Amino acid sequence: MTFHAKRRVLVSGGAGFLGSHLCELLLREGHEVLCVDNFFTGTKQNVVHLLDQPYFEILRHDVTFPLYVETDEIYNLACPASPIHYQLDPVQTTKTSVHGAINMLGLAKRIGAKVLQASTSEVYGDPLIHPQTESYWGHTNPIGRRACYDEGKRCAETLFFDYRRQHALSIKVARIFNTYGERMHPNDGRVVSNFIVQALRNEPITLYGDGSQTRSFCYVSDLVAGLYRLMRTGDDITGPINLGNPTEISILQLAETIIDITNSRSKLMRTALPADDPQRRRPDISLAESLLGWTPTVTLEHGLRRTIAHFERTVADGTRSKRKAPRRVDGLPLATEALKAASGAVPKPPKLDAGAS
Ligand SMILES: NC(=O)c1ccc[n+]([C@@H]2O[C@H](COP(=O)([O-])OP(=O)(O)OC[C@H]3O[C@@H](n4cnc5c(N)ncnc54)[C@H](O)[C@@H]3O)[C@@H](O)[C@H]2O)c1
Repeated sequence: MTFHAKRRVLVSGGAGFLGSHLCELLLREGHEVLCVDNFFTGTKQNVVHLLDQPYFEILRHDVTFPLYVETDEIYNLACPASPIHYQLDPVQTTKTSVHGAINMLGLAKRIGAKVLQASTSEVYGDPLIHPQTESYWGHTNPIGRRACYDEGKRCAETLFFDYRRQHALSIKVARIFNTYGERMHPNDGRVVSNFIVQALRNEPITLYGDGSQTRSFCYVSDLVAGLYRLMRTGDDITGPINLGNPTEISILQLAETIIDITNSRSKLMRTALPADDPQRRRPDISLAESLLGWTPTVTLEHGLRRTIAHFERTVADGTRSKRKAPRRVDGLPLATEALKAASGAVPKPPKLDAGAS
């Protein structure tokens, strides 16, 4: 352990991409971890290496239902994060954000735990100011296909601040910008995983629009370190606080960098921009730097090399990923067709927006 007493920590969405890295960090720091997940987009595979650790426990549970456990801190990460996944069942996505927040806040209130919300840069929508500071209220479309996620997350933030005002809860809200790294879902349509998989297979790289839209990408170890630091702050620090890497890169440059690192023969293929896809995205992280003493340290090239090495081991088996597409939580038929459509394998049925989350 570094410098903090052992805490009992609940991570909802702990079997997902960010959640699994956060569970690892918490265990490394000497805490007891309860990973809560319904395995919609997360998998046991993401945490299988933690299962034999005595202070790690896993519970299959859907956060849209109340949960009664004893814990000191709660990180609420449960929510599908990529457009392809959160648009599969948009009503469930809103429920996960809103009911999930109510249930995690209710639990925190009952047991006096600190609670942190994994919010998102999507609360800024297609931003009219650049870079985005926390004081910007955003420019979202409340009735579009992305609204189940964007507005769900906005409402969750509202709930966090109302529980603080009404019940004096100790809350933390992190607005997470695009994060990438090992254990990203290979078929989730997010730009980094898409490009890497396409490049490793020497398939055409699908650029939305002309590729001049920008994003900034944060490597996963930097991001979870930021969440951890935020949780360690005193009750006066609530956020919202931006966490992300401010280095901006165009999607075209990203594609070229990945082709270069992988030595791929892939060519660029331009397709239409999805609806409500933001043109520019870059966090202003001055607040995180001053309040948390946090700044990302991993360069894009280094992070991409690590991520590519992971994808080489897991998906570049010639044809397709072994990771399954998520099931709808109500057990209704799989929307695998939508996922295949997004990866270009079959003509697409329902219209889903791809793009980075
Ligand atoms: N990765 C990013 O770039 C990014 C950016 C902004 C915000 N975030 C936020 O961070 C969190 C984690 O994102 P991620 O990239 O790890 O996504 P992910 O899809 O890999 O992880 C989400 C996890 O939540 C679980 N989950 C979904 N609905 C649930 C429910 N109702 N009950 C219990 N578990 C449920 C999934 O099974 C999965 O394990 C999300 O809340 C997301 O909105 C991520």
